[in-house]
Amino acid sequence: MIKEKKLVPLLSILLVLVLCVIGYEVFYLINDYQVNQDVEYVVGTDTFEVNTPITINDFKIQATNGTIVNSGYHFDTSTIGEKSFTLETKNKKGTSKKYVVTYKVVDTTAPTITNDTNMTFYVDTELDFYSLLHVSDNYDENVRFTINGNIDITTAGTYNLAAILVDSSNNKATIPLTITLLDKPQANEGNYVLEDGVITTSKGYQIEIVDHIAYINGVMIVNKSYPLPSDYAYGFHEDTQAAFDLMKLDAAALGLNLYNSSGYRTYNYQDYLYNNYCNLYGQTYADTISARPGHSEHQSGYALDLNTIKGSFANTDEGIWVNDNCYKYGFILRYPKDKTNETGYAYEPWHLRYVGIELATALYNDGDWLTVEDYFGITSEYPY
Ligand code: DAL
Ligand code: ZN
Repeated sequence: MIKEKKLVPLLSILLVLVLCVIGYEVFYLINDYQVNQDVEYVVGTDTFEVNTPITINDFKIQATNGTIVNSGYHFDTSTIGEKSFTLETKNKKGTSKKYVVTYKVVDTTAPTITNDTNMTFYVDTELDFYSLLHVSDNYDENVRFTINGNIDITTAGTYNLAAILVDSSNNKATIPLTITLLDKPQANEGNYVLEDGVITTSKGYQIEIVDHIAYINGVMIVNKSYPLPSDYAYGFHEDTQAAFDLMKLDAAALGLNLYNSSGYRTYNYQDYLYNNYCNLYGQTYADTISARPGHSEHQSGYALDLNTIKGSFANTDEGIWVNDNCYKYGFILRYPKDKTNETGYAYEPWHLRYVGIELATALYNDGDWLTVEDYFGITSEYPY
């Protein structure tokens, strides 16, 4: 009996010890199971707009039993479609595991037009809406494009049209266009004056008429369609003089002699010259070699005739060098060969016009001279 009495507490202690060990083991096993468990994550249906930069934080990912690694991903949203990336997770013990996660890149943005859709033209301007309207889309380079409504380019008035733009994801925009057509200035000889305003050319450039003088991108335009007022008398422009002085100096260093045979001319002096040519050759021919008063670039102060005013100038060392180099000083060959239908005048290898180096370089066109008329999309025709 005594033995049995002693045995009870011993067994109890033993039992407690055993239970403690088992408890610890169970606790340890549960804990071990938990920290070793894989991360569970839930990903929402992640859809992103094309060409929008995204980071891992933009995904609706919820992770349990661990964390997701937050850096080192590359997401490509430059094209539409279903994409995937490798998501890295770390469980509570720090063990890394990777999963492939998919996402979608879509285009839900409609195209738009970035330039002014309220445009004014003269009647009979060829309207090529594909080049006149600057279509922009977040994804597509070639947007389907139609014009709704009718326009009669021979009749002045205001026309309400619409451009319908549809991209490859079928996002559609309907953009109203207001096209105003003005009658061409009606004039009689001697009173042809441009009305101030803004007109768009067939190539989409803006002609700004200020104080009855036409400018495109700040460059004064003078030809058969765009005259100067008779009282415009600025004189030979200092920019023309400075560019000529520089060009003359560089030419002299090469042994070439450039001189200004005819620079600034007043309205009245041009009137005298033009009438002389009419008397000599008749008006039809005179109109191809001499400008009517008000229409000469010489009145602008931006033009000059070099050396001998003869076709043979083109074949002199000076003529050849000027043809190939004048653009570097901001001059253009204003009346190139075989461009009478554009400029309104016969070839004049000696007549230079100062327009600034940027435009001169574009018109030089690697030696194949473009005309001001072709480049800007304007006419050179007398309206009287
Ligand atoms: N010879 C040019 C066209 C002028 O008279 O201005
Ligand atoms: Zn000239």
